[in-house]
Amino acid sequence: MPFATPDSPAPRIVLGVAGGIAAYKAVEVLRRLRDAGYHVAPILTPDATRFVAPLTFSALASEPARVGLYDDPELAIPHTTLGQSADLIVVAPATAHLIARFAAGLADDLLTATLMASASPVLLCPAMHTEMWEQPSVQENLATLRRRGVLVLEPERGHLAGGDEGAGRLAEPSTIVEMARRIVAGYRGALTGRRVLVTAGGTREPIDPVRVITNRSSGRQGYAIAEVATRLGASVTLVTTTDRSLAIDVVRRIEVVDVVTAAEMRDRVLELAPSMDVIVMAAAVADFTVDPAPNKLKKAAGPPELALVATPDILVELVGSRRDGQVIVGFAAESTDVIANAQSKFERKGVDVLVVNDVMTPGAGFESTTNEVRLLLRDHDPVTVSMRSKGDVALEVLTRVVALLPQGDQ
Ligand code: CTP
Repeated sequence: MPFATPDSPAPRIVLGVAGGIAAYKAVEVLRRLRDAGYHVAPILTPDATRFVAPLTFSALASEPARVGLYDDPELAIPHTTLGQSADLIVVAPATAHLIARFAAGLADDLLTATLMASASPVLLCPAMHTEMWEQPSVQENLATLRRRGVLVLEPERGHLAGGDEGAGRLAEPSTIVEMARRIVAGYRGALTGRRVLVTAGGTREPIDPVRVITNRSSGRQGYAIAEVATRLGASVTLVTTTDRSLAIDVVRRIEVVDVVTAAEMRDRVLELAPSMDVIVMAAAVADFTVDPAPNKLKKAAGPPELALVATPDILVELVGSRRDGQVIVGFAAESTDVIANAQSKFERKGVDVLVVNDVMTPGAGFESTTNEVRLLLRDHDPVTVSMRSKGDVALEVLTRVVALLPQGDQ
């Protein structure tokens, strides 16, 4: 039970209430959360106050209900104070408008600003008329939010305002409170407390100030691994060569380090590696680089002779200096003799997991949003992961990583 003791204060829940008729049920949610021993701070949107009075919430909550960003003389920046201190934010009811504003990143009232200023888990409990609930815009906004790690408690079927029947009724207050209890008590993902380093994208090796040698890696698989690891609770550092706009759906807590060349990637990765529990080398690192010309090579001088030099193999260096219990994942892009080549790469590199791509398979590997891979694993037979989104492939890879991590030392 989450009752407060001198050593462990009660978990803090921000209860957001948006402007729909189900707002009256939020009073019951509040009462039950208080009965369960939580510290509850209510925030009503201005529209919610048309349905229910802030005074009702203030009378039952652990602190006064808040509505405006600017009305609290004691809290100068209420959204960050509330957002940062919350163990969970529950929004019940979440209207179509609130969901759209949250998905779009708007922060035009205290509730949306608090959602934006928080890295805490969020439980949205939508309630609206069936026609609104079924709108593609509402469903797409929810899909976006889910991808970012927001939890959604689906509405139920039943009587709606105006005598209608259908899907859109707020989940029962007892269900909402039970869900909140589970999140607060068990919000420990399989990688909670672990530090994960992911590399992504193809390195770019300059030939002169204008031209580069690069490859077709889009960085998507690496970004997907970073995103899923974050959702599983890890603290993630992403060393990437590619545009950050790919990370638009990445949950806020990823630390992004930009690099360009194989040498820069090596320096940053080797510097970060000792503090990591897991390292996933999803980047396509150039095997050869060139000493770049200081000025643009001129066409009139004829085809340049490029003296290519081998780059150090970062993965091999990582395996050579790995600390106890660290799990290292490599990738292999193959186009011929995939199984034999991958097996010898697995043995040569000494990694715990090798994610093997046959780049000749349509819809797999470079520049694709889907992937089909074979996982070579230490102490386990190979596993084939059939064609699916790169996010789902990431989950498969990370599930194997979790199984290899030593337990009980987080
Ligand atoms: N890699 C690395 N450092 C390099 C080259 C590759 O750390 N200089 C890593 C990649 O990030 C990937 C793995 O090694 O995780 C395999 O990359 P790949 O290019 O498939 O293997 P190579 O060792 O380069 O072998 P080949 O090109 O002969 O297939």
